[in-house]
Amino acid sequence: MTDLDRYGPWAVIAGGSEGVGAELAQQLAVDGFNLLLVARRPGPLETTAEAVRAHGVEVRTVSADLTRPESVAAVTDATEDVEVGLLVYNAGANTHGRAFTRGELAGFQGVIDLNITTMLALTHHYAAPMRERGRGGILLVGSLAGYVGTSTEAIYGGVKAFGRIFAEGLWAELREYGVDVLELVLGVTRTPAMERAGLNFDVPGMHVSEPADVAREGLAALPHGPVHVISGNEATVERRLSPDRARLVAGTEKVMRLLVPPH
Ligand SMILES: NC(=O)c1ccc[n+]([C@@H]2O[C@H](COP(=O)([O-])OP(=O)(O)OC[C@H]3O[C@@H](n4cnc5c(N)ncnc54)[C@H](OP(=O)(O)O)[C@@H]3O)[C@@H](O)[C@H]2O)c1
Repeated sequence: MTDLDRYGPWAVIAGGSEGVGAELAQQLAVDGFNLLLVARRPGPLETTAEAVRAHGVEVRTVSADLTRPESVAAVTDATEDVEVGLLVYNAGANTHGRAFTRGELAGFQGVIDLNITTMLALTHHYAAPMRERGRGGILLVGSLAGYVGTSTEAIYGGVKAFGRIFAEGLWAELREYGVDVLELVLGVTRTPAMERAGLNFDVPGMHVSEPADVAREGLAALPHGPVHVISGNEATVERRLSPDRARLVAGTEKVMRLLVPPH
């Protein structure tokens, strides 16, 4: 159960229409949180909002592309008149999973804008008043990709590494003000976005999580930052901290070629 007094009354979920974001919305609504859900496609956004309203909470939606600078004002304007005690930044998939020399710079920039630029802008907007109030939570969704570079995740892995280090620093800054910060590190998770991307969930030995379980574990871990690795992925993180980077990168590259369909 997520503490409404500590993190309520409103939560913003950036990437709240599907997968882990939608499950977080459902679970927070059960605990009485009012919600602002943000995603690009209005269809899934409204479907999730309707389902969440059934729990008797107020739900607002903003259809915006978080890679665009104007999305920041669209989100913050929608919560101008309410108190946001929890920011979840979930949107962040690798939308341009190309080898660096084969990809478009604009595509890589989109990955950076989604995972860094807009994440920082929204965190800055919502965290400062939380610090003043002496309570609140910031939950940033990260990835195992943030622990190693591979040819098609050089940018994505980099932005996820940034997110984790940023979360650690923000945790160090805000803990004495009663604001919890968590980087929630996901391994492979059966989300609609990954299903559409054609991810191979059957790589031998690979751990696959379900969105509802990830959401439950993430909310439970919120007071215990700065970093929580979703269960089943601990050994992978341990391995990815190895100082033998050449061996690690070459081995991970082989696994990535099994996991992600070639472009
Ligand atoms: N699934 C995995 O295996 C996995 C593994 C490791 C880490 N993660 C992390 O987990 C998080 C969620 O991943 P996911 O697989 O569910 O995919 P995702 O596409 O990043 O997130 C899904 C949610 O975000 C919204 N969204 C995506 N791009 C957006 C944009 N540019 N602007 C506004 N909303 C956007 C989606 O709705 P719309 O598409 O309608 O915009 C949907 O509601 C990400 O941060 C990802 O890096 C996932």
